[in-house]
Amino acid sequence: MFLGIDLGTSSLKAVVIDSQHQVRATAEANLTISTPRANWSEQDPVHWENALASVCADLSSQIQLQQVERIGLTGQMHGATCLDAKGRVLRPCILWNDGRSSDECNKLNRLGDDFTRNSGNLAMPGFTAPKLMWLKQHEAEIYQQIRHVLLPKDYLRFVLTNELSTDPSDASGTLWMNPRTRQWDDALIELTTVNRAWLPDVIEGPEETGMVTLEASRKFGLPRVPVVAGGGDNACGALALGISNPGQTFISLGTSGVFFTVSDSHQACPEKTVHAFAHALPNTWHQMTVTLSAAYSLNWLSRITGQSVADMVNRVSVSKQTETEVQFLPYLNGERSPHNDPDARGVFLNLSSATTVDDLCLAVMEGVTFSFCDGLAALRDAGSSIRSSLSIGGGTRSKYWLQMMANALEITVETSDSSIIGPCLGAARLAMTDQNTAYPDEQITDRLQPMAARTDYFQSKLANYRQSYLALRQIRG
Ligand code: XUL
Repeated sequence: MFLGIDLGTSSLKAVVIDSQHQVRATAEANLTISTPRANWSEQDPVHWENALASVCADLSSQIQLQQVERIGLTGQMHGATCLDAKGRVLRPCILWNDGRSSDECNKLNRLGDDFTRNSGNLAMPGFTAPKLMWLKQHEAEIYQQIRHVLLPKDYLRFVLTNELSTDPSDASGTLWMNPRTRQWDDALIELTTVNRAWLPDVIEGPEETGMVTLEASRKFGLPRVPVVAGGGDNACGALALGISNPGQTFISLGTSGVFFTVSDSHQACPEKTVHAFAHALPNTWHQMTVTLSAAYSLNWLSRITGQSVADMVNRVSVSKQTETEVQFLPYLNGERSPHNDPDARGVFLNLSSATTVDDLCLAVMEGVTFSFCDGLAALRDAGSSIRSSLSIGGGTRSKYWLQMMANALEITVETSDSSIIGPCLGAARLAMTDQNTAYPDEQITDRLQPMAARTDYFQSKLANYRQSYLALRQIRG
């Protein structure tokens, strides 16, 4: 059996599959984000370890964990977990949706081609390198003690195996790796003033990086088996859906929103905020756009209204309400694609005394959908021809939202059995890759076609959405 662990932002999830790719056990433990200041987003790695312990305990009540032959890791990308010489965590991890490092990003982006030639990507707050530059400037005492910098899932690897490694898909999001060569790049390391010795080895996703130590085996109840390199959560989400060939596409409706398409080589398009990264299988690459607050926006609405996401979404879908004059811009944590604007903010427009919570919920779902429309436009500008897309993530539980996506994006949106399991399944598959490379054919469970009758409504609201952002940016100055 093979265990896949996904260190997500809102929860840590795990799946155990057998060699026939059948799911034998799943478990999940919730995580929360701390926002000590506007634009900041952090998590304490101790909470990740606790979540892993609770997930392992849950799995062991379902199956014999000793039957696990190999482990694959995946997780939220870009986070900076800084360790001292003794491997102790120096401060909370700065997450992918943290916007504090915009000055550092501007500095890197002013270098133009000198930077993007090797990075293949624009510097955007949330990526790892600018965060280290920020630490050097603002937390010099901590910076001086840094001896290792690890991405979130690689911190769990360190806890499990005592080894310092990462993989090319996750390392792409640091800006220290050249996605073409799939190795750290000395020029980028120099430009971002990090110490080369702090970076872990880059090892391809299906390769082994170490064995579970005796201590970790006792702590988590896991057998002393190899842990493979794994991949970033979006790359592993793709593998969960069987997506590894050029042109294959999916949308991820999780805490973040991602439009992901496989390219036949490394194809950079930094001017459109397209992330051009290594995929999690050797010699494969992908492009993606990222919405920072996708399902997160609904969670935020739930928090401030005191109503559960399920209740709100259910009410809107059952009432068959399909239109609202309320407009929502989902920039609660700034935005990456297509604006690269950490200072953008969430906005409700057109509120009236008749506005209900249902209107707000519908507007939030629409606003997130429009950010995917912007993502699709950016990917098309970057050369992709996308006509249909699989989907993954908690948001895919709502057929209503997926139909809205199909209508607004004017593409076919599909779900499959793996849509809900998520990236941990891709990590488990990487753990078994060298034993059985053929992934099972994806069983499509639903195929939502765009409805022509809805095109006018979404086109006019999308135009207004785009104009609203531009107008508000002008007001901000
Ligand atoms: C990708 C990104 C997010 C995180 C969250 O660039 O920042 O999708 O990986 O899980």
